[in-house]
Amino acid sequence: MDFTLSEEQLMIQQAARDFAQQELLPGVIERDEAQKFPTDQVKMMGDLGFMGMMVDPKYGGSGLDTLSYVLVMEELSKVDASASVIVSVNNSLVCWGLETFGTEEQKQKYLTRLATGEIIGAFCLSEPEAGSDATSQKTTAIDKGDHYLLNGTKNWITNGNSADVYLVIAQTDVKKAHKGINALIVEKGMKGFEIGPKENKLGIRGSDTHSLNFNDVKVPKENRIGEDGFGFKFAMKTLAGGRIGIAAQALGIAAGAYEMARKYSKERKAFGTEISNHQAIAFKLADMHTQIEAARFLVYKSACDKDNHVNYDLSGAMAKLYASQVAMETTVEAVQIHGGNGFVKDYHVERFMRDAKITQIYEGTSEIQKIVISRSILNL
Ligand code: CAA
Repeated sequence: MDFTLSEEQLMIQQAARDFAQQELLPGVIERDEAQKFPTDQVKMMGDLGFMGMMVDPKYGGSGLDTLSYVLVMEELSKVDASASVIVSVNNSLVCWGLETFGTEEQKQKYLTRLATGEIIGAFCLSEPEAGSDATSQKTTAIDKGDHYLLNGTKNWITNGNSADVYLVIAQTDVKKAHKGINALIVEKGMKGFEIGPKENKLGIRGSDTHSLNFNDVKVPKENRIGEDGFGFKFAMKTLAGGRIGIAAQALGIAAGAYEMARKYSKERKAFGTEISNHQAIAFKLADMHTQIEAARFLVYKSACDKDNHVNYDLSGAMAKLYASQVAMETTVEAVQIHGGNGFVKDYHVERFMRDAKITQIYEGTSEIQKIVISRSILNL
């Protein structure tokens, strides 16, 4: 497979690299420490077209391919994974879901503003008792004729407080199990919709993660996405693409930490020479580089599968599984190469190590990816 980037893709990649260095790097440590959402930077990313990268320009998007999106995710994540998850959820889960399955009215009303970054979105599937076991939805959306009455709690929702539009998965008819689930568009400010306290997280601390409570929220029928009972398939299809974005995030975290470790190894001296001259360090870097390249091939392949309209459930799951594993291993080694300095916040690598962990958990844990992969290769 040929991954030679086009002129346009190279330009987009460079634009994301420049943005990350100029606008994300300054203040990234402080935002992490204070759990501060990058409001100004999100606005700038909207202006650059990063918030609706694959959306048709007629809905305000950039009309680019998935590979371009992955390149941007990788570059942003080399510097600030908190910023990149905001981009990922808005692009792959919210905008893609609405553009692919929404009505024309829903697209005009919501997608046009989401794709430009004027507002941002959240994807609400997880619950206190339905994380990996996503069919066990306890949130209910009872059909009341012209509206659904929404009740329940969602947990660990990215962009939980900053979003204006929430795609909420809920059970309408429990007898039909996953075929009785719907996906509803809920707006911030709807009566009975409350945002819970912010989670105090290990990593990606600049992104805001909240629980959400729905108490008799009246959601108009026209806010349902797809046919009655399509909600679970909607979630699965959307997450299949979302996993490519998170795989690219993991790749970027690994690449960012590796590059810092490589540079550091050529500056830091021990036993009379740069530590890169010690084979113990050089071999670590060799392993890191090899694993990152392998992860990159899987991530780009899954993006190309999506662009070529080939089924990407398998390649996306493999990309996420492997890239997140590489992110974890690489960042641990990057801290090790930095020694005592690696344990200090100023050197960034400890943040990369903390940020890496979530890539093995959200949008399907590594164990869930193995379920998807094994079912696919065994034709189950
Ligand atoms: N595309 C289309 N349909 C799919 C699908 C896909 N990729 N995967 C499953 N389905 C369909 C199945 O075909 C089946 O439908 P039918 O009965 O009509 O055939 C239905 O969905 C149920 O599928 P399963 O029987 O396979 O369901 P399951 O209970 O065994 O679970 C699972 C499957 C893959 C484990 C799924 O529950 C899953 O992906 N869990 C993980 C959920 C997850 O990723 N959560 C992340 C939260 S979101 C998040 O993190 C966002 C954020 O803020 C960053």
